[in-house]
Amino acid sequence: MRPPKANEACWCGSGNKFKRCHGDSSRRVRAGEISPFREVPKHIERPSYAESGKAVRRPEPRVKSADVIERMRRTGRAAAEVLAATAAHIRPGITTDELDAIAHAEYIARDGYPSPLNYNGFRKSLCTSANEVICHGIPDDRPLRDGDIVNLDVTMFREGVHGDTDATFLVGDVDPESQRLVRITRESMERGIEAVRPGRPISDIGAAIQEHAEGAGYGVVRDFIGHGIGEQFHTDLQIPHYYSPHATTVMEVGMTFTIEPMITMGSYRFNLWPDGWTAVTSDGLRTAQFEHTLLVTDDGAEVLTALD
Ligand code: MF3
Ligand code: CO
Ligand code: CO
Repeated sequence: MRPPKANEACWCGSGNKFKRCHGDSSRRVRAGEISPFREVPKHIERPSYAESGKAVRRPEPRVKSADVIERMRRTGRAAAEVLAATAAHIRPGITTDELDAIAHAEYIARDGYPSPLNYNGFRKSLCTSANEVICHGIPDDRPLRDGDIVNLDVTMFREGVHGDTDATFLVGDVDPESQRLVRITRESMERGIEAVRPGRPISDIGAAIQEHAEGAGYGVVRDFIGHGIGEQFHTDLQIPHYYSPHATTVMEVGMTFTIEPMITMGSYRFNLWPDGWTAVTSDGLRTAQFEHTLLVTDDGAEVLTALD
């Protein structure tokens, strides 16, 4: 792709002039080269979309059987291990593609399929979202830089079920305001988890997250939300991270879903890159995210993607 001229529209789809967007002096994240498809050994069980690249939604009970829950516990823990093992390699200079290769091997070492791989055509085994990237960043040849923040989002498919977890990490020496964003975002997810209670509406979760994040002066992303999960990566159940009066579904013991707030320093609005995946803040300010897969229990939530 020819780089745009200074006064031409930026390649990223922002609608702004290149010189005022991704121009030479900009510290914004740029799209890099994406490496070839990584194969998964034949003996590993694949989700239904692995060949076609199309996830077709089918009916799935919101309240899971004891058997599905047992499998989700094991897969969730394995996903958390992949996230931790991959994050251990984060340092200035490593590329997000190198992190993808590490994660890919860690899934396979646990006999798991990397759920993002060919999910609606996504080409990599995890999402890597740095700085102003809200979510769904595609691993590429961009080296992480000292002072970046980066989210790794790992989802594993094993024993017929998915486990989905992500966290934001500091790369080298990070400025105090970015560190505060990351801390407040983790706390916001924790507030959301604490709001899980059978008999209460889903809207309680977003209300708790929004209160904490906006109380700290930050924004809550509206366009990407938590989701029901189980035998499918994303079910029809929606978990907004802000208060929505429409989120009236009552939580029941045995339900499984994710809580994965994306919190912004500035505007919560997003732009999508021409790759169709990478969602960035519309103002270019930083954003962070944390995610767990949860089970509703008698007295709250069990985190299925916790490490031992
Ligand atoms: N793991 C993401 C989530 O939390 C979804 C990623 S979809 C992908 O829901 F295709 F980008 F991998
Ligand atoms: Co998720
Ligand atoms: Co995820």
